[in-house]
Amino acid sequence: MHLEIQNVSKKYSKDKYGLKNFSIHIEKGILGLLGANGAGKSTLLKMIATVSKPSLGNITLNKNNIVKDANYMRQQLGFLPQDFGVYPNLNAYEFLEYMAAMKGIGGKNLRAKIQQLLEGLNLIENAKKPIGTYSGGMKQRVGIAQTLLNNPKIVLFDEPTVGLDPEERVRFRNLISDLANDCIVILSSHIVSDIDTIADKVAIMKSGKLIEYGNQNHIINQVADTVFETIIDSNQISNFKEKHLVVSTSRINGKLKIRYVSQNPVQNSITQKATLEDAYLYLNSII
Ligand SMILES: Nc1ncnc2c1ncn2[C@@H]1O[C@H](COP(=O)(O)OP(=O)(O)O)[C@@H](O)[C@H]1O
Ligand SMILES: [Mg+2]
Repeated sequence: MHLEIQNVSKKYSKDKYGLKNFSIHIEKGILGLLGANGAGKSTLLKMIATVSKPSLGNITLNKNNIVKDANYMRQQLGFLPQDFGVYPNLNAYEFLEYMAAMKGIGGKNLRAKIQQLLEGLNLIENAKKPIGTYSGGMKQRVGIAQTLLNNPKIVLFDEPTVGLDPEERVRFRNLISDLANDCIVILSSHIVSDIDTIADKVAIMKSGKLIEYGNQNHIINQVADTVFETIIDSNQISNFKEKHLVVSTSRINGKLKIRYVSQNPVQNSITQKATLEDAYLYLNSII
């Protein structure tokens, strides 16, 4: 599987771009798309899913132009949009049968497939109750099940872990890991911890642009040997923030423990092992 995004821009109105001259080459495995709100993640995923077209540029899947011929993508695609809505009066079985019909999936294996998905997503117990009675996390899992009905080769999840509790997140991660053997899986998030334990590669987006792309070590290496911890008086914090990028703070005996990224660490700092979170905040701050 090769997904190629070539110089893609999406212009929403005069001077308003969702994506600006964006290029990336994606192969099988799990890609984490990381960026703050408004970075362009949904804009990009919608164009890959062929529910929106680029204003400029091209997108190909295995060398097939999917802007011109959307069907090649749609046949192999599973997509969970950020604002996915479910039908409150249908139960999970009915909803998945309905979605299958919409996607043109039928046959005698459908029932077994639905059963397998409901089991894998821990929905069996409530599968005969109307979706309107489900919690946010359960609705989200129905949305995830829907993406997998057609055994997709490319699966896009737009902020899939919003609304999931920690246990549900673990389940989701396991499901995705099983899926990713020979598929392209792209999941977007604005939260580093949703991505760092699962993604083979990470793409960091800001203001409609790609600011870094590679495996996690490559990205973390951008801040190798520049992450430190130190303790300062509370009243020094604003002065400290002017000189260094503060990643996190915590209170300790009336003082502040600071984790920060800097080329010029203050005295009495202790070097820390850099994380994806450090690198993400650093790259966001410099570009
Ligand atoms: N339909 C739209 N019309 C106008 N501007 C939009 C539309 N959708 C998104 N945008 C703008 O495009 C930018 C990228 O948005 P989006 O792709 O939703 O980012 P993300 O998913 O990373 O939060 C934002 O500035 C957003 O306001
Ligand atoms: Mg979004």
